[in-house]
Order: sequence, then C-alpha cells, then structure tokens
Amino acid sequence: MARQLTAPELAARKGGDKIAMLTAYDAATATLAERAGADVLLVGDSLGMVVLGYEDTLSVTMEDMLHHTKAVARTAKSALVVGDMPFGSYAVSVEQAVENGLRFLAEGGARAVKLEGAKHLEAVRALARAGVPVMGHVGLTPQRLAEIGGFKAQARSAEAARVLLQEARDLERAGCFSLVLEAVPSEVAELVTSRLDIPTIGIGAGPGCDGQVLVIHDVLGLFDRFTPRFVKRYAELGSASAEALAAYVKDVRQGGFPGPEHEFRLSGEEREKLEEL
Ligand code: KIV
Repeated sequence: MARQLTAPELAARKGGDKIAMLTAYDAATATLAERAGADVLLVGDSLGMVVLGYEDTLSVTMEDMLHHTKAVARTAKSALVVGDMPFGSYAVSVEQAVENGLRFLAEGGARAVKLEGAKHLEAVRALARAGVPVMGHVGLTPQRLAEIGGFKAQARSAEAARVLLQEARDLERAGCFSLVLEAVPSEVAELVTSRLDIPTIGIGAGPGCDGQVLVIHDVLGLFDRFTPRFVKRYAELGSASAEALAAYVKDVRQGGFPGPEHEFRLSGEEREKLEEL
C-alpha cells in the first residue's frame, strides 16, 4: 500500500520534479486530487469561500478546519495532507499557535500545517520544535485582506520584492519546510526560489517556482463568484452540473424519472398475495 509523502520528503524535492498541490475539503475532492497524482492536498481556508459560502476566509474557525481536514486525512493514501491554520488561530500567542497546530495533527490527521505571513516567526519555530511541520505563505495573504485592501498582486516594486525575499528567508530560517508564494510577479518568485533551500509553491507566481497550487473548485470550474487572472480552469463542471441538474428537475416534473430500470418490483407471486391482502 502507498505510504503518505512526508514533509521532509517534499522539502527534498527542491529543484527536482515539480510539486503539484491542490486544495481538497472532503472525501470527494481528496479522492479526485489524489487519483490525479497530486503530491499535496491542502485543506485550505479557501474552504470558507468555495464550500461554506462566506465572502472571504476570515470567518473560518478551527472547528470548521478540523472537520474538513479529518475527511481529507481519512481519504488520503499517498499525498501529504496540510491543514491551513485559520484566521486568529495562531496570532494570539505562541502557546495558542502550538496548541492549534498540534490539533491539526492529533485530531485532524494532517501531517503539516500552513500559516500566512511572516509576522509569527516565534510560532513557526515553536511549531517546528513541537513536531508540527510548517508550510509558510507570503505575497497575497487573504487573512490580511483588511490590511491589503483586496485580492491584488503583491511585491510589485523593487523595495516590496526585497521585503518579500526577507520574509521568505526569515520563514525558512524559522523552520518552514516549504513556502507558498501567492500573486507576486514571476521575476520576484524566481528570485525567491533561487535564494531558498526549501521548495516554493506558486499560485499566481509564474512558472519559476518549485511547484504550483490551485483551488480545486477553480480548476474544475465549480466556483464562479470570481476567477483570478492566475487561475486556469481545466473543466467547466459548474455549467455541466447545472445542465444535468436541470434535466433531473425537468424529468421529475414531467414523469421521465424514475424509469422502469430504476424501480424495485414485487415478484408475480408476492403481487398476487398483496392483492389478496
Ligand atoms: O486557502 C487556500 O486555498 C490557500 C491556497 C490558495 C494557497 O491558501
């Protein structure tokens, strides 16, 4: 039986085969992503937007994340399962960060966590010390939407790129085993990738990263509230599903479903007995 990829094994992929990461939120998406060969299943806090119907990721709780991480971890056989630490779950204190990080592994079944930004380096160090591998995430960090002022590309000036590189180095030094770079110019992502010993995983960061990640609902065309420029939709399952479901509703209304092939029937003998009764 296949064994799940570990965080150190993923870290060792730096400069080797490109890492393919997808988000997953339940048994169905985990199965699809893993069958496709994804190396990493990220139970992202994008859960809030694509599954739970929130406007952004800020309302997602630890309980939401654990509930969905458990479903993905139960399903995953070979991919590394990474749980995304939600807004407010690691900013209060180092103790809070470690406690919640440990819950992702012990209760959720994840084998690593991800947290956003470079402002909580002590928490990253403490998590790593406690045996919780940490994936960093810099550039566009949706949990800081209120500060950033919207979903827009980051590090678009030389000075901002210098700061981003410093954040990436700080996170690597603090013990991160990999780093997500979101919505930054390709040149900046390439520079960061070339200066780190840990793999970078880009989303809207160009082709120069060690791997790529996308939200599975975006890849499959299942989320149409907005589609960022960096998303490639590989299928239009949203419109295909809408057509299928409309056909079902029409069939129900017009009596076209269920047909004889969907029915259970009594045997002739049992029917006669029933009539006598
Ligand atoms: O929450 C998420 O899905 C993410 C990825 C987009 C990197 O953080």
